[in-house]
Amino acid sequence: MSWDEFDEMRDPRPAENDFDRVVERAISRRGFLGGALAFGSASALFGTSMLTPNAARAEAHGAFSFQPIPTFTDATIHVPEGFEWKPLVRWGDALWSEAEGAFDAETGVSLEMSDKVFGENTDGMELFEVDGKEIITVNSEYVNPKINLPAASEGVPANADEVMLLKNLQGVTVMEVAMGANGYEVVVDSPFNRRITHETQMTMDGPAAGHDLVKTNADPEGKSPKGTMNNCGSGRTLWGTYLTCEENFNGYFGATEAREPTEGEARYGIGGESNYSYEKFDVRYDISKEPNEPHRHGWITEIDPANPDSTPVKHTALGRFKHENAAMTQAADGRVVVYMGDDERGEFIYRYVSNGTWSEGGSTEGLLSDGQLYVAVFNDDMTGEWRALTPEATGMTLEETLVFSRMAGSAVGATTMDRPEWIAVNPMKAEAYCALTNNSKRGGEGMPVNAANPRETNDYGQIVRWAPEGDDHGADGFTWDLYVMAGNPTVYDNVYGGSENVTDGNMFNSPDGMAFDASGMLWIQTDGDDSNEGDFAGQGNNQMLVGNPETGEIARFLTAPNGAEVTGLCWSLDGKTAFVGIQHPGGSWPDGNGLPRSSVIAVWRTDGNVVVG
Ligand code: FEO
Ligand code: CA
Ligand code: CA
Repeated sequence: MSWDEFDEMRDPRPAENDFDRVVERAISRRGFLGGALAFGSASALFGTSMLTPNAARAEAHGAFSFQPIPTFTDATIHVPEGFEWKPLVRWGDALWSEAEGAFDAETGVSLEMSDKVFGENTDGMELFEVDGKEIITVNSEYVNPKINLPAASEGVPANADEVMLLKNLQGVTVMEVAMGANGYEVVVDSPFNRRITHETQMTMDGPAAGHDLVKTNADPEGKSPKGTMNNCGSGRTLWGTYLTCEENFNGYFGATEAREPTEGEARYGIGGESNYSYEKFDVRYDISKEPNEPHRHGWITEIDPANPDSTPVKHTALGRFKHENAAMTQAADGRVVVYMGDDERGEFIYRYVSNGTWSEGGSTEGLLSDGQLYVAVFNDDMTGEWRALTPEATGMTLEETLVFSRMAGSAVGATTMDRPEWIAVNPMKAEAYCALTNNSKRGGEGMPVNAANPRETNDYGQIVRWAPEGDDHGADGFTWDLYVMAGNPTVYDNVYGGSENVTDGNMFNSPDGMAFDASGMLWIQTDGDDSNEGDFAGQGNNQMLVGNPETGEIARFLTAPNGAEVTGLCWSLDGKTAFVGIQHPGGSWPDGNGLPRSSVIAVWRTDGNVVVG
């Protein structure tokens, strides 16, 4: 079962709040018509007679450094003319020489080698310069039990060893990369190489560290959690460390003795059976015995890529939810600002602002443990505000606002969003973008449409962006618009056809990963329906596109092998190679035989220029 299917089944519901109740569909539509779209005439999107004809949609390639490519439905990667690609590292590739040859094309990786190889299902990643070397930190979001376990297990672990095998293939990889005779490759046996898994010892800081809610039998002090899991998107601090973002942690916890879930468990989709059956073989995952263990996951965790012996730190001040990524920037006065999305239908967008300030070379003490967490309210008049999750505003204790951030957000009237995925901060101007990937339940109970999430049963997604008041990410007010509403203009002559910058030549669904390049162009990765049928006819495989923030033009750069999503993007120090994650491919990609292998690929220009949009 995919995480999306698991979510849909478990379906925790945000509490309906006053803000929701006042936004009725008709009003929000009028608000949206009043100018929610960034480009062209918004009214052209509504109603058949007013649709911009497909033939008249501008072709978006004049503004880009590459010739856009068409869609594909095949089992390989496509990039524009003048670019090439090759795998950098595949699931099961060795990080240390003792694991060379450990991967078997039919059976995968043995338990013995499972924490010495690159993990499965690559996701967010960042590249750091350490002592002149290039170090990539990269998440392995989850494992596919059917691929990793013996066929007799039918995708369900049969013993503790099989649980450990699955756990070892998740988490984070730190690896040195270098240009070799055939392009970039992993430096096997580099002293920087490291695997961080469910089993790695962590610490916790911030207000909720040491609180009763995070104490367990194994850690009565509540400050030494073990492991990170379901690491989805990524972030980087201003001071050169990695932020890994714990997303669908809920699915790992199950109850061996049935009981009604608590309010906090229900809101996070915890209870009943887990998605992996770990609780049957490892007490840590059994909420009947360790009800607080889930409170120790769902955090932003900081890892120092320069020090393989460092202990990762879970930062409770940044809130607990299904963290997609963490986009760090600075307020005008030097305080640290982190934007974060909670990827679930109807959940919220968050902002953390530190109390202390940072400057190059200055102390980082307390910057991610002492600050204020906020949630976003998107008003229908295209203004918005950040509401602080204080005890006064929420009626909860400070620790509860952090451990149960979703409930705190509901208490202050946060706007329910269409699954907030990655957030990216424009390096050229004061604005931030969030991919709202899709929401099958928008328009249903507790989730009426609103101006920023304007379509019922939204299966295409949109990207919302906001500009803070006074160009200051520390300000509590902002204005917002929709950078793009994805859609299919070949199927729909209405709002489901997408915004004006969506054409039959660049259409896509389910925007997810996003990153700005050095030239200020926005790269957009998709994790959507690649059936190429029905609502998705003509959209082909998942893809990576480039958007021009100023003109709104969007062009397709890369298509993934069928079955895969594209997630994770970073660049070499010289900017001449882009590293792109390909998660859950189908068939036998990329080897052409045996099991499919999630991989990071390198993409470069044959003329040796930098890779920018
Ligand atoms: Fe792991 Fe929301 O993507
Ligand atoms: Ca994602
Ligand atoms: Ca996704």
